[in-house]
Amino acid sequence: MTTDFTKRLDATADDTEKLLGELLSGDALPDEIARPTRLIEAMRYSSLGGGKRLRPFLAVESAAVFGVPRDQALLVGAALECIHCYSLIHDDLPAMDDSDLRRGRPTLHKAYDDATAILAGDALLTIAFDIITRDAVHADPMVRLLLTRALARASGIGGMAGGQILDLAGEGRFGDRDPVDVARVQQMKTGALLRYGCIAGALLGQASQSEYKALDAYGRALGEAFQIADDLLDVESDAEALGKPTGADAALNKTTFVTQLGIDGAKRRVQDLLAKADASLAPFGAKGDTLRAAARFVADRKN
Ligand code: IPE
Ligand code: IPE
Ligand code: MG
Ligand code: MG
Ligand code: MG
Repeated sequence: MTTDFTKRLDATADDTEKLLGELLSGDALPDEIARPTRLIEAMRYSSLGGGKRLRPFLAVESAAVFGVPRDQALLVGAALECIHCYSLIHDDLPAMDDSDLRRGRPTLHKAYDDATAILAGDALLTIAFDIITRDAVHADPMVRLLLTRALARASGIGGMAGGQILDLAGEGRFGDRDPVDVARVQQMKTGALLRYGCIAGALLGQASQSEYKALDAYGRALGEAFQIADDLLDVESDAEALGKPTGADAALNKTTFVTQLGIDGAKRRVQDLLAKADASLAPFGAKGDTLRAAARFVADRKN
């Protein structure tokens, strides 16, 4: 990875950390009644001090292609990261992947309790929609509406939440023995939020239809590559490097591209997706260079 790329990723992670720290303050906003200490502390526990912040980075860098002011993209990135952190909290619950370690620390339900973890997830999901609709996101309310609707669709039944139930169904826990469409599960449970980071830049930048489509195609390829890399790390890495347990997918009997194609086959698929992501950025020329590097980062990442 070039130092320029690493610097940019670190800068967005730092800015996102600071912004989330402010957004998740203990002070109630107008129309809120109070922010109970235990809940805001739990939300902060799972949102601050860790994570690659790749989704905010994609929002910032896709927006930069269109010259959108950074502060606007950072707010969108913060909203998206709140949804991501909520998805991780719920994903780790005993009723789902039953995981004890996240970002190198005990998972939220271990550090607190299941009920607090469920509610912290609920509140992070909800605050994301407070953030994404704020005036500072974009001067044009129609742009804010489009961003909000796309975020709902990426997060809900047709996106992340829908993908999570397909993932659990793939373990056979609902007695459903249909073959698993791994590509579909991954597009939904993981791809949808990563893709959102990419199209958010196009929406903020009021891009042309063809530019939107280019970022959409890039985001889809990157999203799939990201989850395959995650599944490979689950097999090939260790908990210390990863900050979360390894061997979890096999223990839960999950079907992934690693179980379907083998390690080498899954790696080849990541490379194919990388080429696809790269080709999708052709219309942007050199302006797409950081996003090109982001796709390589996703494929080569070690945690
Ligand atoms: C982990 O996402 C969950 C998946 C979708 C595989 P990340 O690997 O982006 O997690 P953080 O945010 O860096 O901890
Ligand atoms: C998670 O997929 C996707 C989410 C929506 C959180 P995984 O279950 O593979 O993510 P990790 O490995 O626990 O981070
Ligand atoms: Mg899971
Ligand atoms: Mg999991
Ligand atoms: Mg995983």
